[in-house]
Amino acid sequence: MSASSSKGTALITGASTGIGVVYADRLARRGYDLVLVARRQEKLAGVAAQLKETGRKIETLQADLTVKEDVQRVAERLSGDPAITALVNNAGVGSAGKLLDAKIDDLEAMIYLNVTALTRLTLAALPGFVARKNGLIINIASIVALAPELLNGTYSGSKAYVVNFTQALKNEVAAKGITVQAVLPGATATPFWDKAGLPVEHLPSEMVMTAEDMVDASLAGLDQGELITIPALPELASWERFEGARKELGPQLSLKVPARRYGVTA
Ligand SMILES: NC(=O)c1ccc[n+]([C@@H]2O[C@H](COP(=O)([O-])OP(=O)(O)OC[C@H]3O[C@@H](n4cnc5c(N)ncnc54)[C@H](OP(=O)(O)O)[C@@H]3O)[C@@H](O)[C@H]2O)c1
Repeated sequence: MSASSSKGTALITGASTGIGVVYADRLARRGYDLVLVARRQEKLAGVAAQLKETGRKIETLQADLTVKEDVQRVAERLSGDPAITALVNNAGVGSAGKLLDAKIDDLEAMIYLNVTALTRLTLAALPGFVARKNGLIINIASIVALAPELLNGTYSGSKAYVVNFTQALKNEVAAKGITVQAVLPGATATPFWDKAGLPVEHLPSEMVMTAEDMVDASLAGLDQGELITIPALPELASWERFEGARKELGPQLSLKVPARRYGVTA
């Protein structure tokens, strides 16, 4: 099935497997041409071939987003191509082991991919989007952004960054015609889990969503104007209470005098 009118081009990182492939499929069917980014060119070519029937223009861009020069190359594409109207920052890896057993170089590469590359690509796309008063940025975070006790804190911290960054970004650009969304998937059945050393089959099946359902729910959330989309959360009111409690702390977090319980001032 081919979508009739073009919505411009969506650049999707991590589009060789898992969630990124489903975004590629759904955005092509919504009328976007695609630039698919990942390290494994043969997988990207397979995804492009699979989506040929959508009738959209699909290009692959091989890049390792833990390598600064490669990130720069993708950033230049984003800043230099006025046809690009959407960026999906989806590429990401996890870290499941104990901090005491962790290899610092692996953690550093994860933080670079999940945080630095996402930030660089967003900032590369942004000036053009603002100048054209049109742009969509979808950042894939994770529910662990809200649950630091689940893993070792490094992956969840990188995803908490994505949530913070997206919330701040919305404040800055919403009035300039830019749409932003952070998506917080729960456990989703993709190759992610094998790479993190935790086969997804070991999780209770009622906790695990298909990548198709996850992306379809997220795009429905986008259509409903959500800034934060948590595909599994049954009641939106639960998130609103959580946000309300956080915002209520705001005026109390920075004051001239320390709290009485510390006994510092009379
Ligand atoms: N699956 C879950 O349960 C889950 C839950 C919450 C959030 N998420 C998030 O969802 C996003 C997508 O993950 P997924 O579940 O779809 O996992 P996935 O199937 O492992 O896909 C990850 C994608 O990122 C790409 N990638 C990894 N390292 C890269 C690098 N250095 N440079 C460029 N691309 C790289 C991979 O392609 P190449 O290997 O070809 O480079 C692949 O296309 C991630 O940000 C992840 O943190 C996943």
